[in-house]
Order: sequence, then structure tokens, then C-alpha cells
Amino acid sequence: MENIVWHDHHVTMNERAALKEQKPCVLWFTGLSGSGKSTIANAVEAKLLEMGKHTYLLDGDNIRHGLNKGLGFSDEDRIENIRRIGEVAKLFVDAGEIVLTAFISPFRSDREQVRSLVGAGEFIEVFIDTPLAVCETRDPKGLYKKARAGEIPNFTGIDSPYEAPEMPEVHIRNDNIPVEEAAMQVIDYLETKGHLN
Ligand code: PPS
Repeated sequence: MENIVWHDHHVTMNERAALKEQKPCVLWFTGLSGSGKSTIANAVEAKLLEMGKHTYLLDGDNIRHGLNKGLGFSDEDRIENIRRIGEVAKLFVDAGEIVLTAFISPFRSDREQVRSLVGAGEFIEVFIDTPLAVCETRDPKGLYKKARAGEIPNFTGIDSPYEAPEMPEVHIRNDNIPVEEAAMQVIDYLETKGHLN
């Protein structure tokens, strides 16, 4: 970019993280609306907090009220939504945090772009794999009903695509398991990969 010069910081990500006794990363939750992304991400964050870890949760609806206010649900807007969230997640990782994000993030290429931006070792894709029929039955916000009635255009899973991860780091089949068990799957993964010490 013309006339804009990148500055290297003197304090590194590893130095910031060492104080917190953790290896920073992004836990990127992806799944259909109503799949349980936010519920499980919140449960994981609570467990990490109990363990004394430094975390930050970026959540779909909340980000759309602030940073990404004005973006809708066209393919183009969803791509921009995920791009900005990826950049924010990267900043938090640089600050030494364990970041949790809970967005539908329906396009594989966008998620892969965030993986390259953040760095492969620091990006953990967590697929909340709940069948569409189950999400639609739960319909916690009544949105599927509206989408079926034609009141919400471009609704994921109805008339807008969801591209499931092919090789997620954590695959949670969430049709009938307790939140606690789902959260433990993520914690176990973090422990195995040395993110918690
Ligand atoms: S995306 O696709 O990643 O940009 O979406 P995200 O930022 O996660 O926002 C998803 C939440 O917005 C509500 N909502 C919709 N979802 C899907 N399609 C359409 N058209 C739509 N319109 C509104 C919905 O409440 C989603 O919340 P979750 O928590 O996923 O159910």
C-alpha cells in the first residue's frame, strides 16, 4: 500500500503469551444457525477461565451489532464479515489470547483464508455438525420458520449454501450430546496440542 509502512513490534506474541502460560490460538467454531456454536463456545470459554486461561469470544450476532454493523447475508457480505473477523482474531492471537469465534462462516475458502492469515498451527477449526433437520426442529430464534415462509432470503441451509469442513481439527457431532461433553472434546484437543501450558 502506498505511503503506509508496516512497523515491527519489539514485544513478540510468544513473550506476551509466556506471561499467561498458554499457547495462543483461534478456536474457529463453524456450523449451521442453531447448531450450538455459541452455546458450546461459551461452555469452552467458561472452562478455560476456570483453568486460569486468558480468552476472548467473538460471537456472531454481537459482532454484527458493532464492528460489522451494516453487513447483511449476501455471499459478498458474508465474505467481508469473515474477513474482518479473521483480522480481529489475528490481533487477539498476537496479544497472546486463546480466541473463540462463533460464526456460521459457510464458505470453505473464507475459513481457509483465515487459517493462512492466522497461521496453520494457531487455527483450530471446530465443526459443530448438527443436521439441518435438528437445527430446524430446535429453531431457537424462530428463523427457520420465517425462512421457510420466504420472509428471510438467503438463509443458510435453506436457500444459501453451507460448505462443511472436510478435515476439521475438532469434529463435534452434536445431535444428541450434552454441552459439557462437547466442550470437553475441545478442551481435550487443546491439551493434547499443548495450548494450555
Ligand atoms: S455468516 O454467514 O458467518 O456471515 O453469519 P453470522 O455472522 O454467523 O450470523 C449468523 C446469525 O445471523 C442470524 N441470521 C442469519 N443466519 C443465516 N442466514 C441468514 N439469512 C440470516 N439472517 C439472520 C442468525 O441468528 C445467525 O445466528 P446463529 O447463532 O448462527 O443461529
